[in-house]
Amino acid sequence: MELPQEFLKTASRARYVMVLTGAGISAESGLATFRGQDGWWRNYHPQDLATPQAFYKDPRLVWEWYQWRREQALKAQPNPGHLAIAVMEKLFPEFLLATQNVDGLHQRAGSLKMVELHGNIHRSRCFRCQKPYPSIPNDNQIPPRCSCGGLLRPDVVWFGEELPRDVLKQAWEAASQAQLFFVIGTSGLVQPAASLPLVARRSGAFVIEVNPEESSLTEMADLSLRYKAGEAMPSIVRTMEKARWRKL
Ligand code: OAD
Repeated sequence: MELPQEFLKTASRARYVMVLTGAGISAESGLATFRGQDGWWRNYHPQDLATPQAFYKDPRLVWEWYQWRREQALKAQPNPGHLAIAVMEKLFPEFLLATQNVDGLHQRAGSLKMVELHGNIHRSRCFRCQKPYPSIPNDNQIPPRCSCGGLLRPDVVWFGEELPRDVLKQAWEAASQAQLFFVIGTSGLVQPAASLPLVARRSGAFVIEVNPEESSLTEMADLSLRYKAGEAMPSIVRTMEKARWRKL
């Protein structure tokens, strides 16, 4: 893959690097995206499955949908795209991965410097008292109950809910400092995550997108590579590593 000189120069010198990922990075692990072909939101309405109102109306349906996705995520393996991002964090002094994914695959690939913008399906919390649970308790009830008697919900961000403040603050700060910003496998249609590359661009970052299709962020990117993440990322990371050795 031919990478332009401007990108290589930035990559060879950058101190601050940020990556934003979306469902596309996990597509090659066999997990469905939301808006792609066979994506969840092509067949279901988000308001029926991913809102507090949906959970209030039919907690069992919502819990079972997440339970199914949890099982799929546990069966899936991190792919070369996830693994390359975990290697990338070692190349730069300051690095942050902000993922919109809730599947836990980045952690399983070894990423450490990361935040989960939309939570994690392998954790739960009480719908009533907000008590956090680091895992999914099994009390043979669907959904399981909190010690206060309330229903447990997946610890994810639903439509109409705010992102965790500390997570958003960390992501925003990293975006405004980034010299190089990767946008990988996201349609860029959900806010505030989709604003992170714009914040970075406004602060002078070089923005590179990796997505087999055009997205709503393609136009603002300095470089848009029409590849699958698992195909492109390992070679991009190897090239960046070499460029840093040579300090172009
Ligand atoms: P989308 O389903 O909206 O977009 C997935 C993107 O991944 C598309 O642009 C695809 O072209 C791209 N893609 C597909 N396969 C790929 C591959 N192998 N490599 C790279 N890219 C690929 O998913 P998100 O952008 O993640 O929110 O969606 C954002 C949010 O909307 C999600 O976090 C979720 C959803 O509703 C919540 O649950 C709050």
